[in-house]
Amino acid sequence: MVKKKILVTGGAGYIGAHTVVELSQAGFEPVIVDNFSKSDDTLLKGIEKILGSKPVFMEGNCTDRTFLRSVFEKHQFACVMHFAAFKSVGESVQRPLYYYHNNIESLVTLLEVMKEFNVNDLIFSSSCTVYGEPDQIPVDESAPFKRAESPYGATKQMCERILEDAYSSGFRVISLRYFNPIGAHPSALLGELPIGTPNNLVPYVTQTAIGKREQLTVFGNDYTTPDGSCIRDFIHVVDLATAHMNAMQYLDKQKGDTFYNVFNLGTGVGVSVLELITKFEKATGVKLNYVIGPRRSGDVGKTYADPTKVNKELGWNAKYSVEEALLHAWQWEQKLAQ
Ligand code: UFG
Repeated sequence: MVKKKILVTGGAGYIGAHTVVELSQAGFEPVIVDNFSKSDDTLLKGIEKILGSKPVFMEGNCTDRTFLRSVFEKHQFACVMHFAAFKSVGESVQRPLYYYHNNIESLVTLLEVMKEFNVNDLIFSSSCTVYGEPDQIPVDESAPFKRAESPYGATKQMCERILEDAYSSGFRVISLRYFNPIGAHPSALLGELPIGTPNNLVPYVTQTAIGKREQLTVFGNDYTTPDGSCIRDFIHVVDLATAHMNAMQYLDKQKGDTFYNVFNLGTGVGVSVLELITKFEKATGVKLNYVIGPRRSGDVGKTYADPTKVNKELGWNAKYSVEEALLHAWQWEQKLAQ
């Protein structure tokens, strides 16, 4: 049987690479496009080790129309998964135009080239950042967008707006709003590879535990939460990856030439930063050196998903616990140190 080809932009990155593995194991043929602007070939090698064969890969930039055309000329895609984007909140504040240019232009160019080649189905990587500080917790998909705290957040809001405006010209689109992806592949062959000092909590935790960082700072313990630290919805990256397949299959079943829908991807359970530290220590047996510091500007105190819509309509549920995700992240960190 001919395998359906799926274009995975950003497939050498954290979430993209995990999705490539899930797609391959489910009998699809992912074609990776990446320009290594925020990664190298480490995860491509990890994919190869897990699957026992080299993934199909084309190096290039999604803002480059000529390059994208060459990809679509070579392969007939059933669906596109667009992971390629810049995602660092802090960097986006320093370099807003760099973020607007990359994240917006890559989506627009991709849509134009998809149209040219008659490829209609797209799964877009959005983020819970579109909600800002939500009025109600858990937050469902009907919550309004608040003014984005960062240029990064604004690009995700703008991309969703572009998709909402453009889908009726012949696209079938699902935007997935990720909450906090953490963890690594259970094989320890794939995981998060932050460039320089990690911004995100879990890579900072694992790097502190292994001794690469001296100590973790908990950003604030004076929030209006039970233990004072921020609350997030941490979701295992493999669960996040499998949700893309549910979304693709759901899209495939839709009749008609146009479609647009958005889904939260979270567990529905809020875990505080201090709880996460305790869970890490329990899951790994490693004591973490941490101190309480001031709040980090731009942080939302408390957010977690209402995943009812994705559970019901896409038939998807998170399977891994936060403890398992932390153990996998730790095993990945240890593997990196070998
Ligand atoms: N935190 C610390 N110490 C650290 C790093 C993080 O205490 O060294 C805390 C943060 O203050 C926050 C929590 O851990 O309360 C989670 O922080 P992350 O940076 O891991 O994740 P965020 O919730 O800030 O960001 C995530 C994604 C973004 C997305 C955002 C939307 O990484 O891409 O959710 O809310 F925009």
